[in-house]
Amino acid sequence: MLGAMQLKILVGTVTGNALSVAQAIQLSCTDLVADIAVQPMDGLDIRVFDEDALFLVCTSTTGAGDVPDNAQALYASLLNEPHYLGKLRYGLIALGDAGAHASTFVEGGLKFDAALQDLGAQRIGEVFTHDASGDEDAETAGVDWCRAWLAHART
Ligand SMILES: Cc1cc2nc3c(=O)[nH]c(=O)nc-3n(C[C@H](O)[C@H](O)[C@H](O)COP(=O)(O)O)c2cc1C
Repeated sequence: MLGAMQLKILVGTVTGNALSVAQAIQLSCTDLVADIAVQPMDGLDIRVFDEDALFLVCTSTTGAGDVPDNAQALYASLLNEPHYLGKLRYGLIALGDAGAHASTFVEGGLKFDAALQDLGAQRIGEVFTHDASGDEDAETAGVDWCRAWLAHART
């Protein structure tokens, strides 16, 4: 158990896949973290990362390598209202489709990753990517990844 630490999952989504992954994690990982909050990114800015929590950014990609509309304001805030995020530890789940969008696969998620790294945040583990053109179920794969990631985050 990660002590009293909250896991906050910030969701960027167009059609709900990323939200489903976040909700599956919320339902399936309470034995590892008691307090898991799922928060769509709508209306958020960089100050959300000042909260004392472990963060999971869970976002799809839209357009040609773009972050979803509901993630635009938060992403813009990281670029335009930057402050040092040296205390922030986070993980990243990036949903995409390598079959239909090979050249911009999961770039929306990777944009968040690059912006957070630039501000001094520490990513725990590798970025988890899900390819909608593959066979893997996003919720199952996301939960499996998250359980291993949480074990890593504990150390
Ligand atoms: C209009 C449109 C554009 C997309 N562009 C990309 C893209 O550039 N790169 C990528 O990896 N996936 C792209 N995708 C695939 C989605 O990211 C993928 O289907 C994902 O599972 C959607 O998750 P969501 O329902 O949370 O938005 C695109 C999908 C649509 C419908």
